[in-house]
Amino acid sequence: MVGTLGIFVGSVKLQGDWSQDEIQDLRSNFGISSDDAAELTLVKNENQIQLKSHDGHHLCFDFDLNRVDYHRKTSKSSDPLLKALGYSKGIRNVIDLSMGLAIDSLFLAQNGFTVTSIERHPLMALLVRQAQKNSTREFVKKIDFVHSSAQEFLKSLNTPEKTAAYFDPMFPHKKKSALPRQEMVFFRKLVGSDDDASETLALAISKKFERVVVKRPLKAPALLPQVSYTIETKLMRFDVYKSQESS
Ligand SMILES: C[S@@+](CC[C@H](N)C(=O)[O-])C[C@H]1O[C@@H](n2cnc3c(N)ncnc32)[C@H](O)[C@@H]1O
Repeated sequence: MVGTLGIFVGSVKLQGDWSQDEIQDLRSNFGISSDDAAELTLVKNENQIQLKSHDGHHLCFDFDLNRVDYHRKTSKSSDPLLKALGYSKGIRNVIDLSMGLAIDSLFLAQNGFTVTSIERHPLMALLVRQAQKNSTREFVKKIDFVHSSAQEFLKSLNTPEKTAAYFDPMFPHKKKSALPRQEMVFFRKLVGSDDDASETLALAISKKFERVVVKRPLKAPALLPQVSYTIETKLMRFDVYKSQESS
């Protein structure tokens, strides 16, 4: 299932150096087929894959550059996301249920977490997999990127011990965004609005993680009411849901 309002409907126009094996890979691993009349284009130039729209938007990831905040500096003891995930309690495994641009997944991997990162949107999953292939950084290579809906992934998960889940669904009114404005507009159009976020969170909570952490805008209501506690920053907050066993 693709995000509820996403513009991608399964096919793209292919431009550039695509081999038959790569076209087959698009189809079998991401469900993406080729259609010259499609609204979106995937351009392959050597090892780079860029996604373009008819109206001039584009997305392409490079995890070795700092253009997007991929390598933000932090103090481990005070970073709110690390705190929320239980870093100081020794938690070092995290399942990121909403990979998106992979900024948070990269940050967590860079700070010593073993990260499994889930994304349901095939084009985002493809672009991130390519950026990982192209990256020279050890911690980027170690992330397990999985193209799946979080629901499908969670249903078959035997939750490992000392593991946290992290969830950052799309929210319509975020003021500050990680990407330049036009790219953010395109990203939002592409992935849709994650209207099933509460349902995904309920499933995550039922899976007995040490804790489930949800990123929310400051004034937004909690996705589900049973928040154990909240960590606020100037720009957003993290709602922490602890399992009964670990609280
Ligand atoms: C706000 S973005 C996440 C940004 C991410 N935290 C980052 O650092 O780049 C939300 C992403 O989560 C994905 N997503 C939301 N709900 C999902 C679900 N149930 N299963 C898989 N992916 C999901 C959306 O497709 C979108 O790409």
